[in-house]
Amino acid sequence: MKKIITYGLPLLVVVLIVMQFFGPETANPPEDPAATIAAVAKPPVEVINVIDRGCRDCHTNRTSWPWYSRIAPASFLVARDVTKGRAHLNFSEWRGMSPEITALRMTEACIEVTRGDMPLPYYLPAHPEAKLSAGDVKAICSWPEQQK
Ligand code: HEC
Repeated sequence: MKKIITYGLPLLVVVLIVMQFFGPETANPPEDPAATIAAVAKPPVEVINVIDRGCRDCHTNRTSWPWYSRIAPASFLVARDVTKGRAHLNFSEWRGMSPEITALRMTEACIEVTRGDMPLPYYLPAHPEAKLSAGDVKAICSWPEQQK
C-alpha cells in the first residue's frame, strides 16, 4: 500500500500533466447561416428554440465548450460526444436536405426526446436549461407531421 502511494501517486500526477498537452481538437467548424436547419427547412420558432436550448452543444457547429472540456481526461469524453453527435445529426449542416429527409430526421429526434434518451441524461445536471418540458417534446414531434 505504501509503495502504491510513494510511486503510484506521483506517476498519476505526471500522466495527468502530460495528458494536458494532448487534448482533443475543440475548435468549432464554421457555421454558414444559409445552411442551418433554420434557414433551409424553416421550422417553427418553438422547434428552433428547443434545438438551441437542448441540442446545440452536440448537434451543431456552435458548441459552447465548458471549462472542464479543456482539462484531460474530461476533455476527451466531451469531445467524443460532440464528434459523435455531429456525425449523427448536425443542425448546422442542413444544406440539400429535402422536406422528406427533414421529416425523417425529426421523427428520429422525436423518438429520442420522447424516450428521454436525448439530450444525454448525464449532460443535464450541468445544463439544466436543456431539460425538455412536455411542450418542448410536443414541438419537436408535431413538426414532422405538419410537413406531410
Ligand atoms: C451532450 C451531447 C448531446 C446532446 C445535448 C444531445 N445529443 Fe443527440 N446524440 C449525442 C450523441 C453522442 C449521439 C450518438 C449516440 C450514439 O452513437 O449512440 C447522439 C445521437 C442522436 C440522434 C441519432 C440517434 C441514432 O440512433 O442514430 C438523434 C436523433 C439525436 N441525438 C437527437 C438529439 C436531440 C433532438 C437533442 C436535443 C433535444 C439531442 N440529441 C441532444 C449527443 C447529444
